Amino acid sequence: MADSQQRCILVTGGAGFIGSHVVRHFVRKYPHYRIINVDQLTYAGNLENLADVQDAPNYCFVRGDVGDLETMRSLLREQKVDGIIHLAAESHVDRSICDPLLFARTNVMGTLNLLQAARECWSGQWEGRRFHHVSTDEVYGALEPGEAAFSETTPYSPHSPYSASKASSDHFVRAYHDTYGLPVVLTNCSNNYGPYQFPEKLIPLCIHNICEEKPLPIYGNGENVRDWLHVQDHAQAIDEVFHRGRDGESYNIGGGNEWRNIDIVRKLIRLVDEELGRPVGYSDRLITFVADRAGHDLRYAINAEKLRRELGWVPQRSFETGLRETVKWYMEHADWVRNVTSGAYERYYAEMYGDR
Ligand code: NAD
Ligand code: DAU
Repeated sequence: MADSQQRCILVTGGAGFIGSHVVRHFVRKYPHYRIINVDQLTYAGNLENLADVQDAPNYCFVRGDVGDLETMRSLLREQKVDGIIHLAAESHVDRSICDPLLFARTNVMGTLNLLQAARECWSGQWEGRRFHHVSTDEVYGALEPGEAAFSETTPYSPHSPYSASKASSDHFVRAYHDTYGLPVVLTNCSNNYGPYQFPEKLIPLCIHNICEEKPLPIYGNGENVRDWLHVQDHAQAIDEVFHRGRDGESYNIGGGNEWRNIDIVRKLIRLVDEELGRPVGYSDRLITFVADRAGHDLRYAINAEKLRRELGWVPQRSFETGLRETVKWYMEHADWVRNVTSGAYERYYAEMYGDR
């Protein structure tokens, strides 16, 4: 797919963490594209994340729910959308354990609505059209230490309501390709970190708590392993796959950068304490082992060889630099953190961690 032609791309969930980086990337890099960001602005969506591009002539925001088929239909028709990058989702595993039905509604039905709207609106005229579904490595289940990393052919084995809902949405995307011929690509990415991540997730939560000298809740024994990738490397990979990925294919995206949770937390303590001029090890006392997450997957690791081989993508940011910059960003954006963590988030935090 040429990236020189004019296009209209609908990004769903563009006010969230990864979505805001994807919107910024496309708005800046492709001034000849129209980028429409549709987002319901749940607790996780925040237009402040896009303040620096909100006035760009090729960008517009529409508040809308992917659960509403009629709204998706009219958006696609009226705006003459020819590309969809679908990120809107409920994304937090812990919340999925508390409210699985919401995850089915947004992640499964929301995806199905968009697929159906695209199928109707594009009605067999597939040339120049593309539906890019942004998914997760969690659909593959959990790895044992030493087991080979997930590849695109690893069988699906989701354990949480979140990963089950994402797996289900992936299956629907493939079904629309195989049954109706809808032009689709899928990406399954590992854990992202970077600016604008909602502070319910491990890295921003710990940065915030170290600054505030609050306990750092580590689930279980802290031995669980995640494969971390900078969010801007993810946005670049989405760009490559959206434009040049093969129709109907899935691509894994990952950093080849596995860390045990306890080691990440120790790294964050070192970085934050250093920034604040505190003595070495000052915040070690904040480490608090708490009750484990139900169904907690032991290890994720991504084999992104297909993406490297076919499209030449490799991550550009080292973890050491990326994490240091991320720590600085959160410390310099205390207002952003305060805004997104006030009110409803305070209640969530008390409920999630109160009795743990
Ligand atoms: P996020 O929770 O930060 O943002 C989700 C966005 O979707 C928010 O802006 C929210 O308002 C919006 N949204 C939620 N429900 C909606 C609805 N019904 N209609 C319209 N908008 C709605 O999530 P994120 O971490 O940026 O993840 C984005 C996508 O990437 C998700 O699909 C997630 O499964 C996937 N993913 C995330 C990671 C990660 O590490 N965060 C890794 C791999 C894949
Ligand atoms: O792997 C990709 C996935 O990564 C995405 O699909 C999800 O949307 C995203 O939320 C993320 O899921 P995780 O559950 O891996 O991320 P989280 O930051 O919630 O947790 C990372 C690890 O840290 C996990 O093993 C659980 C642990 N943890 C998390 C929190 C919030 C703790 O030990 N304490 C905590 O307070």
